[in-house]
Amino acid sequence: MNHFLSIGEHNKSFLQHILTQSKYLHSNPSIQTLQGKNILFSFEKPSLRTLVASEVAINKLGGNVIHISPEAFLGGKVMHPADLEFEVPDERESLKDTVKNVSQWCDAIFARVYQHQTLTTLASYSGIPVVNGLSEIHHPMQAVADMYTLQEKFGTDQELKIAFLGDSNNVSFSLIEICLIFGHTVQFAGPADYHWADGTLSHFIEIAQQYSGDFIHTTDPVVAASGADAVYTDAFVSMGEEHVYQEKMNRFKAYQVNKELLSKAAPHAGFMHCLPAHRGVEVTDEVIDHPNSWVYDQARNRMVTALGIFTTLLTENYS
Ligand code: CP
Ligand code: NVA
Repeated sequence: MNHFLSIGEHNKSFLQHILTQSKYLHSNPSIQTLQGKNILFSFEKPSLRTLVASEVAINKLGGNVIHISPEAFLGGKVMHPADLEFEVPDERESLKDTVKNVSQWCDAIFARVYQHQTLTTLASYSGIPVVNGLSEIHHPMQAVADMYTLQEKFGTDQELKIAFLGDSNNVSFSLIEICLIFGHTVQFAGPADYHWADGTLSHFIEIAQQYSGDFIHTTDPVVAASGADAVYTDAFVSMGEEHVYQEKMNRFKAYQVNKELLSKAAPHAGFMHCLPAHRGVEVTDEVIDHPNSWVYDQARNRMVTALGIFTTLLTENYS
Protein backbone atom coordinates (compact mmCIF):
# COMPACT_ATOMS: atom_id res chain seq x y z
CA MET A 1 0.00 0.00 0.00
CA ASN A 2 1.27 3.46 -0.93
CA HIS A 3 0.63 6.73 0.87
CA PHE A 4 1.02 10.05 -0.97
CA LEU A 5 2.49 12.45 1.57
CA SER A 6 5.35 13.96 -0.43
CA ILE A 7 6.87 13.79 -3.91
CA GLY A 8 10.35 12.84 -2.70
CA GLU A 9 9.23 9.52 -1.21
CA HIS A 10 8.35 8.27 -4.72
CA ASN A 11 10.53 7.56 -7.74
CA LYS A 12 10.30 8.84 -11.30
CA SER A 13 8.71 5.70 -12.70
CA PHE A 14 5.87 5.83 -10.12
CA LEU A 15 5.26 9.55 -10.78
CA GLN A 16 5.36 9.10 -14.56
CA HIS A 17 2.92 6.19 -14.18
CA ILE A 18 0.48 8.54 -12.39
CA LEU A 19 0.86 11.11 -15.20
CA THR A 20 0.25 8.47 -17.88
CA GLN A 21 -2.77 7.06 -15.99
CA SER A 22 -4.16 10.60 -15.62
CA LYS A 23 -4.03 11.21 -19.36
CA TYR A 24 -5.53 7.80 -20.13
CA LEU A 25 -8.42 8.17 -17.68
CA HIS A 26 -9.13 11.73 -18.81
CA SER A 27 -9.40 10.62 -22.44
CA ASN A 28 -11.50 7.56 -21.53
CA PRO A 29 -14.22 9.04 -19.31
CA SER A 30 -16.30 5.85 -19.25
CA ILE A 31 -13.66 4.01 -17.19
CA GLN A 32 -14.71 3.93 -13.55
CA THR A 33 -11.84 2.72 -11.41
CA LEU A 34 -13.28 3.71 -8.01
CA GLN A 35 -16.70 2.06 -8.01
CA GLY A 36 -17.56 0.99 -4.46
CA LYS A 37 -14.66 2.98 -2.96
CA ASN A 38 -15.23 5.49 -0.16
CA ILE A 39 -12.74 8.32 0.40
CA LEU A 40 -12.77 10.36 3.58
CA PHE A 41 -12.03 14.10 3.16
CA SER A 42 -10.96 16.17 6.17
CA PHE A 43 -9.58 19.69 5.68
CA GLU A 44 -8.18 21.89 8.47
CA LYS A 45 -7.64 24.86 6.10
CA PRO A 46 -9.75 26.33 3.29
CA SER A 47 -9.45 24.85 -0.22
CA LEU A 48 -11.08 25.44 -3.58
CA ARG A 49 -8.98 23.59 -6.19
CA THR A 50 -7.69 20.66 -4.13
CA LEU A 51 -11.08 19.88 -2.65
CA VAL A 52 -13.36 20.45 -5.64
CA ALA A 53 -11.06 19.08 -8.36
CA SER A 54 -10.42 15.91 -6.32
CA GLU A 55 -14.08 15.37 -5.48
CA VAL A 56 -15.04 15.83 -9.15
CA ALA A 57 -12.34 13.34 -10.19
CA ILE A 58 -13.53 10.76 -7.64
CA ASN A 59 -17.16 11.24 -8.76
CA LYS A 60 -16.15 10.73 -12.42
CA LEU A 61 -14.41 7.49 -11.43
CA GLY A 62 -17.55 6.21 -9.67
CA GLY A 63 -16.20 6.64 -6.12
CA ASN A 64 -17.86 8.23 -3.12
CA VAL A 65 -16.60 11.09 -0.95
CA ILE A 66 -17.39 11.48 2.76
CA HIS A 67 -16.62 14.85 4.35
CA ILE A 68 -15.76 14.94 8.03
CA SER A 69 -14.80 18.03 9.99
CA PRO A 70 -11.24 18.09 11.36
CA GLU A 71 -12.79 18.59 14.83
CA ALA A 72 -14.41 15.17 14.55
CA PHE A 73 -11.52 13.42 12.80
CA LEU A 74 -8.11 14.99 13.39
CA GLY A 75 -7.97 15.16 17.15
CA GLY A 76 -11.64 15.15 17.97
CA LYS A 77 -11.92 18.26 20.11
CA VAL A 78 -14.93 18.33 22.40
CA MET A 79 -16.74 21.60 23.07
CA HIS A 80 -17.55 22.05 26.73
CA PRO A 81 -20.14 24.38 28.23
CA ALA A 82 -18.42 27.71 28.95
CA ASP A 83 -19.39 27.67 32.64
CA LEU A 84 -17.59 24.42 33.60
CA GLU A 85 -15.85 25.00 36.93
CA PHE A 86 -13.16 22.30 36.49
CA GLU A 87 -10.64 21.19 33.85
CA VAL A 88 -11.63 18.26 31.64
CA PRO A 89 -9.72 16.72 28.69
CA ASP A 90 -10.86 18.21 25.40
CA GLU A 91 -9.60 15.38 23.15
CA ARG A 92 -12.48 13.09 22.20
CA GLU A 93 -10.27 10.26 21.03
CA SER A 94 -6.64 9.63 20.04
CA LEU A 95 -5.66 10.00 16.39
CA LYS A 96 -4.53 6.37 16.52
CA ASP A 97 -8.01 5.14 17.44
CA THR A 98 -9.75 7.44 14.95
CA VAL A 99 -7.67 6.28 12.01
CA LYS A 100 -7.89 2.63 13.01
CA ASN A 101 -11.70 2.96 13.01
CA VAL A 102 -11.81 4.74 9.65
CA SER A 103 -9.54 2.07 8.14
CA GLN A 104 -12.34 -0.48 8.78
CA TRP A 105 -14.86 1.36 6.57
CA CYS A 106 -13.10 3.60 4.06
CA ASP A 107 -10.63 3.07 1.22
CA ALA A 108 -8.48 6.22 1.58
CA ILE A 109 -8.02 9.32 3.73
CA PHE A 110 -7.50 12.69 2.05
CA ALA A 111 -6.46 15.47 4.44
CA ARG A 112 -5.23 19.09 4.43
CA VAL A 113 -3.43 19.87 7.67
CA TYR A 114 -1.51 22.60 9.51
CA GLN A 115 1.19 20.19 10.66
CA HIS A 116 2.71 17.60 8.36
CA GLN A 117 3.23 15.43 11.44
CA THR A 118 -0.52 14.85 11.59
CA LEU A 119 -0.26 13.11 8.21
CA THR A 120 2.73 10.98 9.18
CA THR A 121 0.91 9.93 12.36
CA LEU A 122 -2.22 9.07 10.35
CA ALA A 123 -0.11 7.08 7.88
CA SER A 124 1.68 5.19 10.63
CA TYR A 125 -1.60 3.77 12.00
CA SER A 126 -3.64 3.65 8.81
CA GLY A 127 -4.61 0.48 7.00
CA ILE A 128 -5.59 2.53 3.93
CA PRO A 129 -3.71 5.08 1.76
CA VAL A 130 -3.32 8.59 3.22
CA VAL A 131 -3.18 11.39 0.64
CA ASN A 132 -1.75 14.84 1.43
CA GLY A 133 -4.04 17.67 0.30
CA LEU A 134 -1.38 20.21 1.52
CA SER A 135 0.61 20.55 4.69
CA GLU A 136 2.95 23.36 5.71
CA ILE A 137 5.85 21.44 4.11
CA HIS A 138 4.50 19.61 1.05
CA HIS A 139 1.85 19.94 -1.68
CA PRO A 140 2.46 16.81 -3.79
CA MET A 141 -0.84 16.82 -5.69
CA GLN A 142 -0.15 20.34 -6.92
CA ALA A 143 3.31 19.28 -8.12
CA VAL A 144 1.89 16.35 -10.11
CA ALA A 145 -0.57 18.70 -11.86
CA ASP A 146 2.29 21.13 -12.55
CA MET A 147 4.45 18.42 -14.12
CA TYR A 148 1.44 17.33 -16.21
CA THR A 149 1.09 20.96 -17.38
CA LEU A 150 4.80 21.21 -18.23
CA GLN A 151 4.61 17.96 -20.21
CA GLU A 152 1.55 19.28 -22.09
CA LYS A 153 3.50 22.42 -23.02
CA PHE A 154 6.94 20.92 -23.76
CA GLY A 155 6.50 17.15 -24.22
CA THR A 156 8.46 14.64 -22.16
CA ASP A 157 11.92 14.76 -23.75
CA GLN A 158 13.14 18.32 -23.23
CA GLU A 159 15.31 19.38 -20.30
CA LEU A 160 13.69 22.50 -18.87
CA LYS A 161 14.70 25.43 -16.68
CA ILE A 162 12.01 26.24 -14.15
CA ALA A 163 12.31 29.43 -12.10
CA PHE A 164 10.60 29.72 -8.72
CA LEU A 165 10.42 33.17 -7.11
CA GLY A 166 9.27 33.56 -3.52
CA ASP A 167 8.83 31.46 -0.42
CA SER A 168 10.44 28.17 0.54
CA ASN A 169 7.55 26.03 1.75
CA ASN A 170 4.92 23.54 0.57
CA VAL A 171 4.32 24.39 -3.11
CA SER A 172 7.93 25.21 -3.95
CA PHE A 173 9.21 22.15 -1.99
CA SER A 174 7.09 19.71 -3.98
CA LEU A 175 7.68 21.54 -7.28
CA ILE A 176 11.45 21.46 -6.79
CA GLU A 177 11.34 17.74 -5.94
CA ILE A 178 9.28 16.78 -8.99
CA CYS A 179 11.27 18.97 -11.41
CA LEU A 180 14.57 17.54 -10.18
CA ILE A 181 13.23 13.96 -10.32
CA PHE A 182 12.31 14.58 -13.98
CA GLY A 183 15.86 15.82 -14.66
CA HIS A 184 15.08 19.53 -15.01
CA THR A 185 16.96 22.55 -13.65
CA VAL A 186 15.31 24.60 -10.90
CA GLN A 187 16.43 28.22 -10.42
CA PHE A 188 15.07 29.32 -7.04
CA ALA A 189 15.19 32.87 -5.63
CA GLY A 190 13.95 34.23 -2.32
CA PRO A 191 15.21 36.43 0.54
CA ALA A 192 18.23 34.88 2.32
CA ASP A 193 16.51 34.63 5.71
CA TYR A 194 13.65 32.62 4.13
CA HIS A 195 15.91 30.19 2.25
CA TRP A 196 15.85 26.42 2.67
CA ALA A 197 17.29 24.78 5.77
CA ASP A 198 20.63 23.04 5.19
CA GLY A 199 19.08 19.56 5.44
CA THR A 200 16.51 20.41 2.75
CA LEU A 201 19.18 21.89 0.50
CA SER A 202 21.24 18.70 0.69
CA HIS A 203 18.07 16.70 -0.02
CA PHE A 204 17.48 18.73 -3.23
CA ILE A 205 21.12 18.41 -4.27
CA GLU A 206 20.99 14.64 -3.72
CA ILE A 207 17.87 14.30 -5.91
CA ALA A 208 19.45 16.53 -8.56
CA GLN A 209 22.54 14.29 -8.61
CA GLN A 210 20.48 11.10 -8.73
CA TYR A 211 18.37 12.23 -11.71
CA SER A 212 20.89 14.54 -13.47
CA GLY A 213 18.90 17.70 -12.73
CA ASP A 214 20.33 20.90 -11.30
CA PHE A 215 19.32 23.10 -8.37
CA ILE A 216 20.43 26.73 -8.26
CA HIS A 217 19.45 28.96 -5.34
CA THR A 218 20.04 32.66 -5.11
CA THR A 219 18.63 35.82 -3.58
CA ASP A 220 18.60 37.51 -7.01
CA PRO A 221 15.23 37.26 -8.83
CA VAL A 222 16.83 38.19 -12.17
CA VAL A 223 19.38 35.35 -11.92
CA ALA A 224 16.56 32.90 -11.16
CA ALA A 225 14.30 34.09 -14.00
CA SER A 226 17.14 34.19 -16.50
CA GLY A 227 16.46 31.98 -19.55
CA ALA A 228 13.68 30.07 -17.76
CA ASP A 229 11.05 28.08 -19.69
CA ALA A 230 8.51 28.78 -16.94
CA VAL A 231 8.41 31.26 -14.07
CA TYR A 232 6.45 30.12 -11.01
CA THR A 233 5.41 31.91 -7.86
CA ASP A 234 3.07 31.29 -4.90
CA ALA A 235 1.53 33.43 -2.16
CA PHE A 236 4.14 35.31 -0.13
CA VAL A 237 2.09 34.66 3.02
CA SER A 238 0.72 31.14 3.34
CA MET A 239 -2.34 30.01 5.28
CA GLY A 240 -1.48 29.98 8.98
CA GLU A 241 1.20 32.70 8.68
CA GLU A 242 -1.05 35.70 9.10
CA HIS A 243 0.92 36.76 12.24
CA VAL A 244 3.96 37.57 10.02
CA TYR A 245 1.95 39.15 7.17
CA GLN A 246 3.54 42.60 7.19
CA GLU A 247 7.07 41.33 7.70
CA LYS A 248 6.81 38.90 4.78
CA MET A 249 5.18 41.47 2.50
CA ASN A 250 8.23 43.71 3.03
CA ARG A 251 10.81 40.96 2.66
CA PHE A 252 9.34 39.45 -0.55
CA LYS A 253 8.46 42.65 -2.50
CA ALA A 254 11.45 42.26 -4.82
CA TYR A 255 10.28 38.82 -5.93
CA GLN A 256 7.03 39.94 -7.58
CA VAL A 257 6.63 38.41 -11.06
CA ASN A 258 5.96 41.41 -13.29
CA LYS A 259 6.49 42.10 -16.97
CA GLU A 260 10.04 43.32 -16.44
CA LEU A 261 11.11 40.22 -14.52
CA LEU A 262 9.36 37.90 -16.99
CA SER A 263 11.29 39.57 -19.84
CA LYS A 264 14.48 37.96 -18.40
CA ALA A 265 13.02 34.48 -19.05
CA ALA A 266 12.99 32.73 -22.46
CA PRO A 267 10.67 34.44 -24.98
CA HIS A 268 8.31 31.43 -24.94
CA ALA A 269 8.25 31.25 -21.10
CA GLY A 270 4.96 30.62 -19.35
CA PHE A 271 3.81 32.00 -16.01
CA MET A 272 2.73 29.45 -13.39
CA HIS A 273 0.99 29.80 -10.01
CA CYS A 274 -0.77 27.18 -7.91
CA LEU A 275 -3.48 29.74 -7.02
CA PRO A 276 -5.02 31.38 -5.08
CA ALA A 277 -3.09 34.38 -6.46
CA HIS A 278 -2.80 37.76 -4.80
CA ARG A 279 -2.93 40.12 -7.76
CA GLY A 280 -0.62 43.09 -7.38
CA VAL A 281 1.40 41.28 -4.67
CA GLU A 282 3.35 38.24 -5.93
CA VAL A 283 2.15 38.74 -9.53
CA THR A 284 0.82 41.64 -11.57
CA ASP A 285 -2.51 41.51 -13.47
CA GLU A 286 -0.58 41.98 -16.69
CA VAL A 287 1.39 38.75 -16.14
CA ILE A 288 -1.38 36.53 -14.78
CA ASP A 289 -3.81 37.66 -17.52
CA HIS A 290 -1.26 37.33 -20.34
CA PRO A 291 -1.84 34.61 -23.01
CA ASN A 292 1.39 32.95 -21.74
CA SER A 293 -0.09 32.52 -18.28
CA TRP A 294 -0.79 28.81 -17.67
CA VAL A 295 -2.55 29.17 -14.33
CA TYR A 296 -5.94 27.93 -15.55
CA ASP A 297 -4.27 24.99 -17.34
CA GLN A 298 -2.69 24.11 -14.00
CA ALA A 299 -6.10 24.39 -12.33
CA ARG A 300 -7.72 22.16 -14.99
CA ASN A 301 -4.96 19.62 -14.52
CA ARG A 302 -5.63 19.39 -10.77
CA MET A 303 -8.75 17.39 -11.73
CA VAL A 304 -7.02 15.42 -14.50
CA THR A 305 -4.16 14.32 -12.26
CA ALA A 306 -6.45 13.53 -9.32
CA LEU A 307 -7.90 10.82 -11.62
CA GLY A 308 -4.47 9.22 -11.90
CA ILE A 309 -3.43 9.73 -8.28
CA PHE A 310 -6.50 8.19 -6.65
CA THR A 311 -6.67 5.34 -9.20
CA THR A 312 -3.01 4.43 -8.74
CA LEU A 313 -3.12 4.56 -4.94
CA LEU A 314 -6.45 2.78 -4.47
CA THR A 315 -6.48 0.15 -7.16
CA GLU A 316 -2.92 -0.88 -8.01
CA ASN A 317 0.10 -2.43 -6.35
CA TYR A 318 2.46 -0.13 -8.24
CA SER A 319 5.52 1.06 -6.34
N1 CP B 1 -3.65 25.28 -5.38
C1 CP B 1 -4.41 24.87 -4.35
O1 CP B 1 -4.08 23.92 -3.64
O2 CP B 1 -5.56 25.57 -4.20
P1 CP B 1 -6.57 25.41 -2.98
O3 CP B 1 -5.89 25.95 -1.76
O4 CP B 1 -7.77 26.22 -3.38
O5 CP B 1 -6.90 23.95 -2.83
N1 NVA C 1 1.62 28.24 0.04
C1 NVA C 1 0.18 28.37 -0.01
C2 NVA C 1 -0.39 27.39 -1.01
C3 NVA C 1 -1.87 27.38 -1.17
C4 NVA C 1 -2.33 26.39 -2.17
C5 NVA C 1 -0.38 28.11 1.37
O1 NVA C 1 0.10 27.19 2.05
O2 NVA C 1 -1.30 28.82 1.78
